Amino acid sequence: MPNQPNENAASRRRRPVHGSIQPSELRALGLKPEDLLDFSASISPIGPPEGVWEAIRSVDLSTYPDPECLDLREAICHYLSTPTREVTLGRVLVGNGSTEIFHLLTRAYLSNSTDHPGGGSALLMTPTYGEYEGACRMAGAKVLTQVANLSGDFRWDISEASRIIRDDRPDLVFICNPNNPTGVYLTHGEIDGLADASADSGSLLVVDEAYLSFVEDPWDSLELLERPNVMLVRSMTKDYAQTALRLGYALASEDVVSRLRSYQPDWSVNGLAQKAGISALEDTEYLPRAREAVYRAKNYLSAEIGELGLEVPPSAANFLLVKVGDAPRWRSQLLAKGIVVRDCTSFGLPEYIRVGIRTMEDCQRLAAAMAEVAAEALAESRPGN
Ligand SMILES: Cc1ncc(COP(=O)(O)O)c(C=O)c1O
Repeated sequence: MPNQPNENAASRRRRPVHGSIQPSELRALGLKPEDLLDFSASISPIGPPEGVWEAIRSVDLSTYPDPECLDLREAICHYLSTPTREVTLGRVLVGNGSTEIFHLLTRAYLSNSTDHPGGGSALLMTPTYGEYEGACRMAGAKVLTQVANLSGDFRWDISEASRIIRDDRPDLVFICNPNNPTGVYLTHGEIDGLADASADSGSLLVVDEAYLSFVEDPWDSLELLERPNVMLVRSMTKDYAQTALRLGYALASEDVVSRLRSYQPDWSVNGLAQKAGISALEDTEYLPRAREAVYRAKNYLSAEIGELGLEVPPSAANFLLVKVGDAPRWRSQLLAKGIVVRDCTSFGLPEYIRVGIRTMEDCQRLAAAMAEVAAEALAESRPGN
């Protein structure tokens, strides 16, 4: 029987798949969240900065939050500005997580509206974070893709991507740097190549830097803000382990920021998140400590997983991709041991799982559990089994 028209519309707007585990799956397994170690999200492993709790307690819950997030935007400008470069208030937009910013972008640039008859198109550099495609589809946009080299280093052919941008002139170009789930980190030159092509075609290049804080030795991407057609998007929920509060921000030209702001519902960033964000930015010792914890545990984990004979492609981010062969099976075997990992099938990588870097102690538990699963797989593959 043919699908009903509204079913088709709904399936076209399919929700993107995220990591973690849904409460319904937990219930079906008879598990509680506290029974699990969640490696499927990649956030700072040292918990939120201490001062955040006091900041949250100081919020008067009976007042509306500032819809313009003025204090927090000022704190972001102060945090990012240097003696030689000032980031000004009008170039910062705060969102309810960086995810809200992607949805504002697709509504503002891609939806079929009187401003924009016929809807728009976007280029996605895949495999990547599913929310870009989800947001584009919700806006009814045409989605173009440039797929990375999946049988090698997971890098993209930047000249080919630039050619697509020049030929197809998408309204938006999304690139995640470093990329989720592959950990590929594009060079300044590569991003400049995409930005040049985007400028020639009137496209806005959106660089999602959700995992940038955990890159060892990053290049200075704020220089890109000299270009009016580039937006940087950052996630404070990941940097400061406050995913429950939802907080992210975008940096772009004043025109782009005010265009997005005009689509943002007032009060979408709650008062607790605004205060927590300011307090987190004031704690200048926090991120160096979080980075240090990530680097140590990441080195340990990649060596341990490598010892199991599993391939771990180089990753610049605070997660590792691991080639396990049958990702759904590994996910359920690890879940039975109280560990959640990201099955990368929805990224088009069914042979891979992704593991976020947690504390050293948690990573030791993951390494031990993975060794058990690898041993079980070996035993099952023996003749006679
Ligand atoms: C690449 C990337 N960008 C953005 C986000 C969303 O972050 P936020 O919590 O700021 O909405 C995620 C979440 O997993 C992500 O992987």
